[in-house]
Amino acid sequence: MQGLRRGSTDRTKGEGAPLSGAKEFTAPDFAIRGNDGEPLIGMESHVRLAHADQNDGVRMLRRGYNYTDGSEGLGHLDAGLFFIAFVRDPRTHYVPMQMTMAKEDVLALEYLKHTSSGLFAVPPGVKQGGFLGEGLFT
Ligand code: HEM
Repeated sequence: MQGLRRGSTDRTKGEGAPLSGAKEFTAPDFAIRGNDGEPLIGMESHVRLAHADQNDGVRMLRRGYNYTDGSEGLGHLDAGLFFIAFVRDPRTHYVPMQMTMAKEDVLALEYLKHTSSGLFAVPPGVKQGGFLGEGLFT
């Protein structure tokens, strides 16, 4: 399948590899530059700004869910993506990254419109003989 080719990499759209090349699960190489001398993975790209290397090693468990909910009343499709992340502490593991995205991330600036959000505390699993939220109360 012929796909996107940039710089000196063999990356194709079908492969799903990072712009720096190789395979789908290859770690992105943020230092590699293309033939034009520019970083193959843009300085304002989502993957660079969201990567753990740029965020004090912060990682989050992410899951996106697409939704469509008919028309929004003005003839447009009411559709979007629920971005769901499970993090240790939103103050260190979510908000700083979101703030960076809001200022610099061209994916967010060009394509995302934030409509709502929610924050939920999720207690750990229950041990034998224990109870939900035990760590909070003992
Ligand atoms: C609707 C909005 C979003 C879209 C369409 C989107 C899309 C993507 C895509 C295509 C990737 C690269 C593929 C992958 O590694 O799985 C990615 C990576 C990532 N995104 Fe998003 N994203 C969105 C919102 C967010 C938000 C709000 C955050 C957090 C504040 C975020 C955090 C991350 C992280 C941490 C990575 C992994 C970076 C890495 O380790 O290389 N994303 N996103």
